[in-house]
Amino acid sequence: MEIADKLIQTHFLTKEEALELLAHAGNKEMAARLAQEAVKLRQSYYGNKVFIRGLIEFTNHCKNNCYYCGIRRGNGKVKRYRLTEDEILECCDSGYELGFRTFVLQGGEDPYYTDERMTALVKRIKETYPDCALTLSVGEKSRASYAQLRKAGADRYLLRHETADEKHYGILHPKEMSLAARKQCLYDLKELGYQVGAGFMVGSPGQTRESLAEDLVFLQELGPQMVGIGPFVPHHETRFAGEPAGSVELTLFLLSVIRILLPKALLPATTALGTMDSDGREKGLAAGANVIMPNLSPMKNRKQYDLYDNKISTGEEAAECLDSLKRRVATAGYRLVCERGDFAGEQFSGRT
Ligand code: 5AD
Repeated sequence: MEIADKLIQTHFLTKEEALELLAHAGNKEMAARLAQEAVKLRQSYYGNKVFIRGLIEFTNHCKNNCYYCGIRRGNGKVKRYRLTEDEILECCDSGYELGFRTFVLQGGEDPYYTDERMTALVKRIKETYPDCALTLSVGEKSRASYAQLRKAGADRYLLRHETADEKHYGILHPKEMSLAARKQCLYDLKELGYQVGAGFMVGSPGQTRESLAEDLVFLQELGPQMVGIGPFVPHHETRFAGEPAGSVELTLFLLSVIRILLPKALLPATTALGTMDSDGREKGLAAGANVIMPNLSPMKNRKQYDLYDNKISTGEEAAECLDSLKRRVATAGYRLVCERGDFAGEQFSGRT
C-alpha cells in the first residue's frame, strides 16, 4: 500500500513508481483505496455533479488507417456517411431542447470537412448557441488550422494520444502516423487555449505495464483538462479481430489513478466502458469519472459509427434516454447537471 499512499500524498508518480503501482492493479483492496480517494477529490472540486456532453458523430469517413478502428480507411465494408451542416445543427437543436450545453463534434479525419467548412460550422453553432461549449474531436491538424478553429469559437478539443509508448504506437498505427506528431498536436492545442482531452485505450494489443506507465507519465507532463480512457474492444474487420478486449477492472483502476494525478480533470465514463459492462458508466463514476457523453447523432447513422463491435448507441447512452440516465445516475448518488461543465480552474502542469 506504500505506493498508493505516495500517490495520494503527492499527486505525482515517476515512471518507476507508476510501474510499481500498476503491478498492484489486480489488488482489490488497493483499487478500493484509490477509488475512495478519487471520489473524495472529485467531490471537493465538482461536488456530486455529473456533466453531460452531447456527442455528434458527424462523419465516419477517415483518411487514417489505425489498425484497431472499425472506421479506418482500409475497411471497405463500412457504409460511409457524412452529415450536412443543417443535419448537424438539427442534432444541436434537439440536444439543446433536451438540456445539453456542450456539443462534441466527433468524426474521422474527413478531407471533405476542410478548414473552411469546419470554421463555418463552428461559427454557426456558436452563433446559434452562444451559451454552449463546443468541443471538436476531428484528429490531427496543423497548428494554423487549430488556431483558426479556436478563433471561430471552438472551446475544447479531444485527441486521444492512444499510447505514449513509441513501440506500442507503432503496433497500433501505420508508419505514416507517429506519436511525436500526435503529442505535438496536443501541445499546440493547449498553447492555443483549448481545454484539451488526451487519453488511451486500456488493453489494446501490445500494451504492456510499461506502456501504461508511459501513459501516466505523459498525462502528468501534458496536464490535460480532460482524459478519456476506455477498454479496447475488438472490431471484426480489423487485424485485431481475435484479440481479447481490455479489462473493465483495469480501466476503473486507471480512472482512479488519473483522478488522483489530475484532481480537477474532467473524466468521462466512456461508451466503451458502457459497452463492456452494462453498469460500466456507474462503475466509472464510482472510480472517479464525472462526465457522460450521450449520443446525439441521427438514429439512422448510429450503427455506422462503428469503432468497435457491439458499440452501444440506443440504450441509456442515447440522448433521448436522458431521463432514465438521470435516474440511474441519481440512484448511484450523483446529480446529472445541464451545465457547460468547464474545467474547474487553471491548468496546473505541463509545458505552457
Ligand atoms: N476499441 C476501443 N476504443 C476504440 N477507439 C477506436 N477504436 C477502438 C476500439 N477498437 C477509440 C480511440 C479513439 C476514440 C474515438 O475511439 O481511442 O480515439
